[in-house]
Amino acid sequence: MEILNDLPDDRFLELDAFLSILSIYEDRTRTRRLQRGLRPLLRPDLVVLEAGAGLGHMTAYLARRVQRVYAVEENALACRYLRHRFRQHPKVQVLCGPVETVEPPEPIDLVFQELYGPLLYDESLAALERLRFRPRAVFPDSGALEYGLLDSRRLKDPVARPDILPLLEGALVADLVPEVPRFRPLGTLCTWHWPEGLHCGEANLAGRAGDLVVLRLVVRHNGRVLCRAVECPNWPLVFTYRAGDRFRLQFVYEDALSRVQLEWR
Ligand SMILES: C[S@@+](CC[C@H](N)C(=O)[O-])C[C@H]1O[C@@H](n2cnc3c(N)ncnc32)[C@H](O)[C@@H]1O
Repeated sequence: MEILNDLPDDRFLELDAFLSILSIYEDRTRTRRLQRGLRPLLRPDLVVLEAGAGLGHMTAYLARRVQRVYAVEENALACRYLRHRFRQHPKVQVLCGPVETVEPPEPIDLVFQELYGPLLYDESLAALERLRFRPRAVFPDSGALEYGLLDSRRLKDPVARPDILPLLEGALVADLVPEVPRFRPLGTLCTWHWPEGLHCGEANLAGRAGDLVVLRLVVRHNGRVLCRAVECPNWPLVFTYRAGDRFRLQFVYEDALSRVQLEWR
């Protein structure tokens, strides 16, 4: 979804973010897998806080199974919608604003979050390390960013052609190729665990053939895979042209945004 007309900057940004929230729900695999992972953790006496409640579809799922749900959402349009949707719901309290600023009036048994970006930490996971309260558990509690290599000549993709790729040097491009059948990662570039946070190492491609680097998100809970990019279409694969044998990513958290830097050595 794309806004095609001129709008004031603030309105454009708010609406653009809202449209990207709407598009999440096209991915039914994501929703199904999250619900399947959550189900065994839920009990009627639990107090749950949803960090980033979107349109509230998971909120409604949680509210049917637990004592109370605090639905926290920072996007003003989504929050307005949540307030309306749950206005008479006895178990749901909607809180508008960044989850980092919330101080819930009671202990939180479980935080449910889905704040993963296609590069793992490029959307909002950093917010979970800045909470003003300490939940007993977080679901999902971990994730990883895997890397691999492809030979664009073998790929025979009409877009990611060997003579086009060098022009993309230095850029991380989501969805350049829609899927890579039988993708075999070479290793893990970054991992994130709650509560320890993010750890990134260096990718080593020395001795490996291929001109196109592929990065793939994996969402996990308690060591089990919930979703991989493309399998859950909400997350695309990310590509970059190979500009050396070693690279790393850095995530710089500024103004509530994680900026991503790619560095080749
Ligand atoms: C990927 S959606 C997930 C929505 C819902 N939890 C679900 O799984 O269907 C992420 C939501 O988190 C919200 N969000 C992102 N960062 C946030 C923050 N720091 N505080 C509150 N909400 C946030 C976004 O606006 C978006 O609605």
